[in-house]
Amino acid sequence: MPRITVSVDGVTYEEEVEPRLLLVHLLRDRLGKTGTPIGCDTGNCGACTVTLDGRSAKSCSVLAVQADGSEVVTIEGLARGQEWHPMQEAFHAEHALQCGYCTPGMIMAAIDLLKDDPDPSEEAVRRGLEGNLCRCTGYSNIVRAVQRGAREMARQEAPRETRPETRQEAPAS
Ligand code: FES
Ligand code: FES
Repeated sequence: MPRITVSVDGVTYEEEVEPRLLLVHLLRDRLGKTGTPIGCDTGNCGACTVTLDGRSAKSCSVLAVQADGSEVVTIEGLARGQEWHPMQEAFHAEHALQCGYCTPGMIMAAIDLLKDDPDPSEEAVRRGLEGNLCRCTGYSNIVRAVQRGAREMARQEAPRETRPETRQEAPAS
């Protein structure tokens, strides 16, 4: 069996895999990354979306051997300790989920779309998430969440002196 080396959420794994093993099954069944769900197994729903070398990928449409030498990030790799990623916070704040099954994939795809368009319009968000299906929410709150997450990510990346809430008052003379 082929032996692969893959980094998942910052940890490097060496695994022997069958050539037909899908990345999503490697993640869930071998590495315990059950935060990445399987919705359809046919590349249609986007629930299994992760990032593969920095870009979003449906992990049910990638063979584990194709991930050899790559860096994978799943929804479980986004938080920093107890601190959620801004996009996770935004989905929570905007009530952008009901059953939550689509949410890991939505969040991973949303973060990816901001790499090309950091301040997306509603239309751009809807277009960017076309490959991710949600059966519950009607998408409106998801769109708002992505735009909110985008604003917060931009704020966090801005130089400190441009952040109003971190600006220091001049000492009284
Ligand atoms: S489970 Fe991968 S796209 Fe649906
Ligand atoms: S919240 Fe249920 S599928 Fe999206």
